[in-house]
Amino acid sequence: MEKEIERIKNRFYRDCADIKDISGAEEIRIRYLGRKTELNTLFSKIPTLPASQRGSWGRRLNVLKEEIARRLEEKINAISDKESKIDLTFPARRPPKGSIHVLSSVNRKICEIFKNLGFSVVEGDEIADEWHNFESLNIPAEHPSRDVFDTFYLDIPAGSGGKYLLRSHTSTVQGWVMKNVKPPFAVISPGRVYRPDEVDATHSFMFNQIEGFVVDKEINFSHLKGVLLEFAREFYSPDIELRFRPHFFPFTEPSAEVDISCMMCKDKETQAGGKTCSVCKGKGWIEVLGCGMIHPHVFNACGIDPSRYRGFAFGMGIDRIAMLKYSINDIRFFYSNDIRFLNQFPV
Ligand code: DAH
Repeated sequence: MEKEIERIKNRFYRDCADIKDISGAEEIRIRYLGRKTELNTLFSKIPTLPASQRGSWGRRLNVLKEEIARRLEEKINAISDKESKIDLTFPARRPPKGSIHVLSSVNRKICEIFKNLGFSVVEGDEIADEWHNFESLNIPAEHPSRDVFDTFYLDIPAGSGGKYLLRSHTSTVQGWVMKNVKPPFAVISPGRVYRPDEVDATHSFMFNQIEGFVVDKEINFSHLKGVLLEFAREFYSPDIELRFRPHFFPFTEPSAEVDISCMMCKDKETQAGGKTCSVCKGKGWIEVLGCGMIHPHVFNACGIDPSRYRGFAFGMGIDRIAMLKYSINDIRFFYSNDIRFLNQFPV
């Protein structure tokens, strides 16, 4: 018995010294303290011993069992201590941080500029009916200008305003505001718009626009020019020039398209060097928005008396504005969620 105890003890200490990790320790625990162990075999022999020796051998075996359990616990503590050691001097790793999407930040910046000019921001619905997208804006059914605004129609029951659709421009907000708010007002309204366009570097079936309009008694075209010039100089740079070209929009009369002077080839020497600017194609001007004086038909449709009120309106593409500002050459970058692109615009 004595020899057996010594043998188990020695072997345990040898095995214990070889333990490397927690699972190794568990293996040894099962080997020495589990159910089928040599120690238990010795325990089972106790009843066969002379009665006078049973007590002392029983105690010896219990002492060994406790010793093994204690030693194993010490070993496990030492290992887990080592495994969880933290090196406080190790340089911290920066947690990955999200950033505001470049379109959102451009949108915010634009809204900020107009808010400073006294405009209120109104968020319109992306689902509109034909009345808001077309009729109210002087684009009657069958009118050829509807073709310009190729549209996604929705397969849900039509209301009194005609079929539901995904709005093809933010101008829908004009009807919402004019029917519900008494002039004067100055409104800016950013949001998504949808057109079934083939996707390429400059087209997407979904993009962002910002609509602006002001209605009051004494509004004229020079107010429009002043507001847009102020915006362009604030947003791009103080030396930017605007050029108004006559144009046609059904909802404004007169209407204009507006170009800004190209900020890429301001440096005429670059042009002189024979390189054609890739942004303005050497023209020196870039088209950025449409605008005009609100058409009397629009006022009539929305219940505002055109003999008492006048207004101007403008609309521009936020994607295009952002592409120009940051020299981004493909609209698809905005929507592909490529972190390498998005990370270039930390806000
Ligand atoms: N709604 C036009 C478009 O999507 C943009 C526009 C042009 C809006 C002239 C206006 C405007 O308010 O006066 O192309």
